[in-house]
Amino acid sequence: MTVPTSRIPGFHKLGLEQRLDAIASLFNLSREERQALRGDASLDVGTASSLIENAVGMYRLPLGLALNLTVNGRDRVIPMAVEEPSVIAAVSAAGKIVRGAGGFRAEADPSLMIAQVQVTRYGDLEQAVGRIRAVKEELLALANGVHPQLVRRGGGARDIEVRVLPPPEGPSGEPLLIVHVLIDTCEAMGANLVNTVAEELAPSIEWHTGGKVYLRILSNLADRRLARAECRIPLPLLADFDLPGEEIAEGIVQASRFAEADPYRAATHNKGVMNGIDAVAIATGQDWRAIEAGAHAYAAREGRYRPLSVWRVEGGELWGRIELPLALGMVGGPIQVHPGARVALKLLQVGTVRELASVFAAVGLAQNFAALRALGSVGIQRGHMALHARSVAASAGARGEWVERIARMMVSAGQVRLEKARELIAAHAVAGP
Ligand code: MEV
Repeated sequence: MTVPTSRIPGFHKLGLEQRLDAIASLFNLSREERQALRGDASLDVGTASSLIENAVGMYRLPLGLALNLTVNGRDRVIPMAVEEPSVIAAVSAAGKIVRGAGGFRAEADPSLMIAQVQVTRYGDLEQAVGRIRAVKEELLALANGVHPQLVRRGGGARDIEVRVLPPPEGPSGEPLLIVHVLIDTCEAMGANLVNTVAEELAPSIEWHTGGKVYLRILSNLADRRLARAECRIPLPLLADFDLPGEEIAEGIVQASRFAEADPYRAATHNKGVMNGIDAVAIATGQDWRAIEAGAHAYAAREGRYRPLSVWRVEGGELWGRIELPLALGMVGGPIQVHPGARVALKLLQVGTVRELASVFAAVGLAQNFAALRALGSVGIQRGHMALHARSVAASAGARGEWVERIARMMVSAGQVRLEKARELIAAHAVAGP
């Protein structure tokens, strides 16, 4: 199958239905898939009620498409569910610049998840550790017996690690004895698989150590399941806002240095990264809380909170790199039941969960690049205001082409406010069709 292009000039100028038509024909979407993308045939209330408790309805978010991305030489159209203006425009703008420099390169590790089992009251620490190590193969076999179908698909338990941690209350306390079971969950995010293994192994671990097991649960610090993306952009390609490429690159590198030195800035820097990753995670039915937890824990892994991405100038090019845990799934959970998530995955055209994680990493880096490019030069308010103005115009009652017109009038007047929008609407006597 030919790979659809992610470069669709003028896409943002089309009306919503025309955009849907363009995408439906590019990706050969069925009528049902087009409806699912539009939100008309999305998750129904009945299914919602079987997913959560006390369901009363649906909560909807806007779904948009970021364009222009090239990852590992392949174009990718990125579905993003997000309420914040400028997130999708930012990824698309970054994608356009980076594709001119060969696009993003990205990769992801195999789907190794960590199950944690907390052993207490084990008596002699060394003996307990020794016993767990001695029965490692037995424990692995037990773990693999829990999910034979996972083993048949090429996954399963890979290793057992024993960790001893100092007691938080000081030397008077019992050192913590934590068993990690590393499990390849293949195409699944794997939370259920991993939790079942942890619970199934607990009695055997208690038997061998003579201890008492308390917690048995996955770790969301999925640091054996990292994804990475990078890009290199020749400086002349960065020229913008009437500034030379060197100046823009300098602003981006200074922003990176700031985040590397200061956790207060690193938190905001990473928030920008997650603007992109969360939006594509929600659109594709992922557990975005797990992704968030993993990303921030990984950012603090060296004992200080750091940026997930860094930027440098090397040999006349701006070089950026991101690395973070991405526990994603292509099967199970909402992906199976949410028609919108299924179409979103179809648009992404990924064959494996590792490919999906690579694209996510590239989206995070693209989002971060766009934010730093603006922050390190003209500031973000200019771009934000232009986009924010559209939602203000719409909130004030403008419709159709008048949304854009009223927005432009507010921006050129330097007054992006609801009252101003209402005043302009009244002055032009329009509220659209
Ligand atoms: C806003 O949602 C995200 C930014 O604050 C990210 C950043 O500062 O890098 C613009």
